[in-house]
Amino acid sequence: MLLRFIIGLSSVLLVTGLFNPLLPTLGDYLLTDQQVQKYFSVAGPSNLAIGTCNSVPFASAQAGFASSVGLAPTTTWREANILTNATIGMIDQGMDQLAAVCQARQQFVQTLGAAYDTCTDRFYLISLGNTDWWNVMQYTHLMKHLEFICSTGFDVYQSNIDCIRKGETTDGNQYRACFYKFNATVNANPNNFCGATETFIGCIKDFFDTECNLYVGWMQCELERIGFAYDCYGLSC
Ligand SMILES: *[C@@H]1O[C@H](CO)[C@@H](O)[C@H](O)[C@H]1NC(C)=O
Ligand SMILES: *[C@@H]1O[C@H](CO)[C@@H](O)[C@H](O)[C@H]1NC(C)=O
Repeated sequence: MLLRFIIGLSSVLLVTGLFNPLLPTLGDYLLTDQQVQKYFSVAGPSNLAIGTCNSVPFASAQAGFASSVGLAPTTTWREANILTNATIGMIDQGMDQLAAVCQARQQFVQTLGAAYDTCTDRFYLISLGNTDWWNVMQYTHLMKHLEFICSTGFDVYQSNIDCIRKGETTDGNQYRACFYKFNATVNANPNNFCGATETFIGCIKDFFDTECNLYVGWMQCELERIGFAYDCYGLSC
């Protein structure tokens, strides 16, 4: 009862977005629960056959990840808002903490081995029940975005951290404007979600091209693109 209340509360807190340029969260897109389900629940051809995810290693990998970001090991994938918030809290402390998060992610991947793709698959997770599309997308986005920022993104963050951070501090209003524009576009034309997405990732690219340099612009655009690529084909940065 108390736990449900906390989860409900945290989802309310995160619904408006954290707008952290180091790690996008589902709340940043300002979509309603219904919109998340509408735009992200359509299975593509690659999901016709879902593999297996054994619950025992999954629980163990997840417990390890939760501990590493400072949460109780009992924090499960069903508490994706809390996991995401704690991960951002760590990353915001600096490069050493980002490295620690990446190490935790690496451990998570290694524990799951070949089951990683299935254990972090939205359709698989929704099939386990007792969850919703919001939570499933928050969780899969967390893992997908970590995959990127812990590989391609890591060195770029390392050398450009100060200007990237300006996207949440001094120039936060401009950065957030891309998300508000996205929300307005999606609501004005609900049947052109992918068109809105294309404009949105371009907005992010332009912002960081100017704020930092072309390489950061590309990387931040790419970081956003991967969150939409499954549902919108042909996006590019
Ligand atoms: C989010 O994380 C911060 C620490 O980074 C913590 O103070 C806050 O309570 C967390 N909020 C939720 C809803 O988990
Ligand atoms: C998103 O856009 C809709 C329609 O313009 C608006 O009613 C809503 O308040 C916006 N959401 C946020 C969180 O700004």
